[in-house]
Amino acid sequence: MFLEIRDGSSQIVLINGQPNVESGHNGYINFTIVIYSLNMPIGSKGPEFKERFMRVVHCTLRIAAGDIVTAFDLSKYSSACDLGGCTGALARELVQTYPEMKVNVLDLPEVIAHSSKFQPDGWDSSRVTFTSGNFLEDPLPEADLFILSRVLHDLPEGKLNHLLQKVSEACCPGRSAVLIAEIVLDEDTKDPRGPLQSLSMSDGKQRSGTEYKKLLEKHGFNSVQIRSTGNLLDAILAVKS
Ligand SMILES: C[S@@+](CC[C@H](N)C(=O)[O-])C[C@H]1O[C@@H](n2cnc3c(N)ncnc32)[C@H](O)[C@@H]1O
Repeated sequence: MFLEIRDGSSQIVLINGQPNVESGHNGYINFTIVIYSLNMPIGSKGPEFKERFMRVVHCTLRIAAGDIVTAFDLSKYSSACDLGGCTGALARELVQTYPEMKVNVLDLPEVIAHSSKFQPDGWDSSRVTFTSGNFLEDPLPEADLFILSRVLHDLPEGKLNHLLQKVSEACCPGRSAVLIAEIVLDEDTKDPRGPLQSLSMSDGKQRSGTEYKKLLEKHGFNSVQIRSTGNLLDAILAVKS
């Protein structure tokens, strides 16, 4: 089993008994959901599952958010769009770290409908907006910095390239960038976080730093920096010059 897991491919069939849970909702599957699936079958689709999923994603992202947003100096970006930004946990960390930044969190309507439940009481939300949309089908909002946190590893090749091409076209050379938060596998793919995440992936692929660099270069990002954070997720900053 571990030999299979080490290749970075999906192991969802091992826990779900079917190759894909719900097409178009690949982003809903996350390694942390494995813990929750002990109590609730991963194929559940109701609102309770959605909210529980969001809670898990929210909690785990909060652990890593500080290290992701400080892995690079992002102070020159005044507007960011977090694609698949879910509850806005990363957006909150960004506006707290960068006082000039405004962040637009884009996610599917059924996710945005629940996002207000995750905002702390009394929090100044004036620099964070939430937008319902589909990043594969709708035009992307304007931003200096696009963020893709735990989105790329769970997209099949066609959707992945489509999304990266859209992001690349939306980036102005020399001004905009894309920040990616993912588990970046070691070159020998022995990172212990990889097998855990692969248990809950649908039809995507985990990648090493070399693989992410190659992928981003293919889409016109000629400066790609990768930082290992020592936390749950690593950070990649890709720029078109
Ligand atoms: C694994 S979650 C990651 C959430 C958050 N970025 C994080 O790192 O915790 C993937 C997110 O992408 C969203 N998503 C998946 N497909 C999408 C699409 N086509 N358009 C917009 N959002 C999408 C999901 O709803 C989900 O919130």
